Amino acid sequence: MLKGKHLIDPMDFSVEEFDKIFELADQIVSNPGAFSHVCEGKLLATLFYEPSTRTRFSFEAAMLRLGGKVLGFSEPNSSSAAKGESVADTIRTVACYSDIAVIRHPMEGAPKVASMYSSIPVINAGDGGHQHPTQTLTDLLTIKNLKKSFENHTIGLCGDLKFGRTTHSLVKALSRYKGNKFILISPEELRIPDYIKKEILEKHNIEFEEAERLEDVIDKLDILYMTRVQRERFANVEDYLRLKDSYILDSDKLKSAKKDMIILHPLPRVNEIAYEVDEDVRAHYFDQAKYGMFVRMALIVNLLGLNLSEAAFDKDEDTVKRTGTKIKAIKNEFRKCNNLKCITSIEENIPQSFYTSNGEKNTCRCSYCDHEYKIQAGGDFNGATNKECENNRLISGF
Ligand code: NCD
Repeated sequence: MLKGKHLIDPMDFSVEEFDKIFELADQIVSNPGAFSHVCEGKLLATLFYEPSTRTRFSFEAAMLRLGGKVLGFSEPNSSSAAKGESVADTIRTVACYSDIAVIRHPMEGAPKVASMYSSIPVINAGDGGHQHPTQTLTDLLTIKNLKKSFENHTIGLCGDLKFGRTTHSLVKALSRYKGNKFILISPEELRIPDYIKKEILEKHNIEFEEAERLEDVIDKLDILYMTRVQRERFANVEDYLRLKDSYILDSDKLKSAKKDMIILHPLPRVNEIAYEVDEDVRAHYFDQAKYGMFVRMALIVNLLGLNLSEAAFDKDEDTVKRTGTKIKAIKNEFRKCNNLKCITSIEENIPQSFYTSNGEKNTCRCSYCDHEYKIQAGGDFNGATNKECENNRLISGF
């Protein structure tokens, strides 16, 4: 049952729930006109604290094509964020005016915080360099239509795997299907974060290898997922300039690739795919952008709990609006996440929360950003033990 749920991380939905969304998306693709009144009377709020073209437009187009309406901001300076309002307060306000909210934020974990305080479904449209689950829905719908299955693929993810949030969410989602193998192609400095390797790949015994040269592995791939180097996430411009041209996919490199390999890219592209590749039958990144709108239409319908058959049409709107989770304001006196890109580093009233890391005795991870936290030898701040800190136990009302 997806009605009223939030989508913050791809693992928030089961494989069956994903299937339900893809099934509806396919129906919408084949007959979009039949869905043009489904969201009449509903409002989607778009809270974009970071730039976006595809994600915001596809969400807005999705809601408008379903017959609903859209309100929101596309840059934080036009909202009360500029006056210092917290994410928690903003979402509580927005929830008074709309039925479902989409949020993109530069700080990792910000949409999760919004979901904790929201009485309407919250969708993460990208949180810093962390996760981007609706791009994953887009990627999966594209794969489903082109490859007919999510299983037994060798998937090459290439480029900025450190900051590229789309790759983190895609690995998580594809790791749940049988027989997939990942080849993680990046420069040493831009390798995929540790938590993806330890908490997802190693924990579930999923085959993967890391490579630096695309040419060395391209012949093995069924899916090549290119990404841009994420300039906005670098601490200094010199590093960006040194790494920005690490990979450029061109026709020459594609000569050794399989004939039925598919090339995907979440877009925007900078220079990592030469324009000549657009003519190649294996290039599908613009199809991918198109699927993005259809899958978001299906997502909105499901989260709003709109049953499509007239007889069963659910008019009980109140059940969609849940009471926001009550978070007791607590002082962060035990542990504090030390990731400066985590939302907890700039907003004081968010309760700290950690989970135990896979097989690591003295390590836990922040539940908002997955950043590793090393437990001090001989105990922790104020004597809180790992047990007390793990699994959100310090959070009341979670
Ligand atoms: C991606 C993002 O925002 O993470 N774009 C998108 O949503 N389609 C990829 C990127 O910006 O490189």
